[in-house]
Amino acid sequence: MNDQFPENFIWGAATASYQIEGATRKDGRLPSVWDTFSATPGRVLNGDTGEVACDHYHRYESDIKLMAKLGVKHYRFSIAWPRIVPNGRGEINQAGIDFYQRLVDCLLEHKITPHATLFHWDSPQALEDLYGSWRSREIAQDFADYVYTIVSRLGDRITHWITINEIPCFTHLSYAVNSDPPHAPGTRVSRIKDIWQTSHHALLAHGLGVQAIRAASPVSCSVALVDNWAVTVPIIESSEHILAAKNAFPLCGQNGGILFPALTGNYSPILLELLGENAPDIQPGDLEIIHQPLDFLGFNVYSATYVRAANNKLGFEFLGLPKGYPRMNMPWLNIVPESIYWGIRHISETLNQPNLPILITENGCAAQDELNQQGEVIDSDRIFYLRQHFNSAYRAVSEGYPLKGYFVWSLMDNFEWAWGYDRRFGLVYIDYPTQRRIPKMSFNWYAECIRQNRVV
Ligand code: NOJ
Repeated sequence: MNDQFPENFIWGAATASYQIEGATRKDGRLPSVWDTFSATPGRVLNGDTGEVACDHYHRYESDIKLMAKLGVKHYRFSIAWPRIVPNGRGEINQAGIDFYQRLVDCLLEHKITPHATLFHWDSPQALEDLYGSWRSREIAQDFADYVYTIVSRLGDRITHWITINEIPCFTHLSYAVNSDPPHAPGTRVSRIKDIWQTSHHALLAHGLGVQAIRAASPVSCSVALVDNWAVTVPIIESSEHILAAKNAFPLCGQNGGILFPALTGNYSPILLELLGENAPDIQPGDLEIIHQPLDFLGFNVYSATYVRAANNKLGFEFLGLPKGYPRMNMPWLNIVPESIYWGIRHISETLNQPNLPILITENGCAAQDELNQQGEVIDSDRIFYLRQHFNSAYRAVSEGYPLKGYFVWSLMDNFEWAWGYDRRFGLVYIDYPTQRRIPKMSFNWYAECIRQNRVV
């Protein structure tokens, strides 16, 4: 059949430590900023915390059996910095390393390849107390030291490493003056410049992290950054609107100040011009550190912004959406499946990186899932969402763009940050009071796509 994905296409599922593990006080782990934040009344919906989450710390074996049943051969998870170096710097916690060793060994026994993210937002609280974590340049070296520690211990069995997940979400969303709802630690800084400085520090951490991985790994490995770059989609695929979408790309979200320096070694000039004195301080040598060669790029994609050509100074205009535009169960989850195709095409054409392999490291949606009387979850809305996005991924592959794989977000329902357990993104329903795992209809649908290696 000619509608099949390439034979070696990677099909996977993704999760993150704080969202699923629980056991936050176990075996020497110390608090992350998310423990402190969620324990503060009014910060997380319904007062939810990650203290128990999906109890994956104790149930990882049966969760891996579920993955095997789903048919995924790849699993993306994250390692919690406060389990490995509980104070963020200094003493190493062997019990934390042991947990990930057990997890990875169990994955390998089930012939599932581990893809480890080294940081998915659970910054050690001790570093927030010591120097304001991402507000300080010091964090970049502390992160690299932690990375060196874990990669030198687990590099014999993990060969796919991701430094950092979604820089905007633990810098701009955590420290911005008006982000709503904010992310931990939720400390507002007063100047826009200081917000850009936090993401600059995260970029430095990424760069030093890549160097640490390459220095520590005992075998050859592949290294990536995962970014949720904002996608500009031409409202009509004609040359004028396509050009508008390209011109808008550096100014959408934080693209020009995160994706651009990471991939090209320079902040986008047009962004710097617009920021003026709000641009971050960049020390000599910073851009070289940030601009590390990558083996692939991770793309987290959920939605996008439509753009059209316009008769104004910039030559383009971002389009708002009509009231009735279809969306899933998050305020920002407008259904724009072209996001996948255009997100990938921009890397190739707008950033001139046609050969950089791309993995979709997250895509999925929250739905208002309910258990029916037969104890099933018939999430046809999630299947609808995913099917459109898979078609868009297929378009990218069939036009020759270097999309190598896809990880669904998420394997199971989990702690959705400031939304707590109220929003469900999983293919597996979690009945939190009993911790029972109930595969949803989308689980069966995804399993069949994997089995046939095509959209079904
Ligand atoms: C991206 C984040 O990486 C993940 O942690 C989060 O749950 C999903 N988006 C859904 O919001």
